[in-house]
Amino acid sequence: MKRVAILISGGGSNMIRLVESMTGDHPARPVLVASNDPGAAGLFRAADLGVPVAAVDHRVFGRDRAAFEAELLKPILEAEPDILCLAGFMRVLTPGFVSRFEGRMLNIHPSLLPRYPGLHTHARAIEAGDAEAGCTVHEVTAELDAGPLLGQARVPILPGDTPEALAARVLAREHVLYPAVLRRFAEGARAPIFL
Ligand code: GAR
Repeated sequence: MKRVAILISGGGSNMIRLVESMTGDHPARPVLVASNDPGAAGLFRAADLGVPVAAVDHRVFGRDRAAFEAELLKPILEAEPDILCLAGFMRVLTPGFVSRFEGRMLNIHPSLLPRYPGLHTHARAIEAGDAEAGCTVHEVTAELDAGPLLGQARVPILPGDTPEALAARVLAREHVLYPAVLRRFAEGARAPIFL
């Protein structure tokens, strides 16, 4: 059985879908949900679901990313995860942190990478006049939003779409894509899936 730790920064709707998926004959189980924000709503939801939680407030460390990560690493290492899932985790991780989990850290990003790494993906896709948007699950490497592709789901961009409306349509697909990719990843598959 693979052990999965999930990092979040906010509401954690993707985290909830991942946790809820890991039952029955699923090859993985959630062992930790951790956040850089002690007030993240997702932490309370994870606790309600019976998953151990931890919070390390990044603001305490100012610009010292390495010190923040050293503290964040403690509960993660205690949980002994085989797989680390970033699910709406909004801190950029240093190459040092990433290298510890090379080949076993996943991220979900709300665009069809390689288009629109970084922030404000939905507004950028609408402004560009794209016909489609979507979400991507990829392996995390030191380069932001650029690791090997594990899965993608597409949605249409509709006339008059706002970034908020598009975000909601994409998020609904994230909730299907991420659990599907995690299951395959935990089984050892690395070929990307397209929903
Ligand atoms: C999701 O849309 C996720 O793709 C995005 O944040 C949202 C988190 O929602 N992640 C990023 O933008 C990472 N750069 P959630 O907390 O409800 O899962």
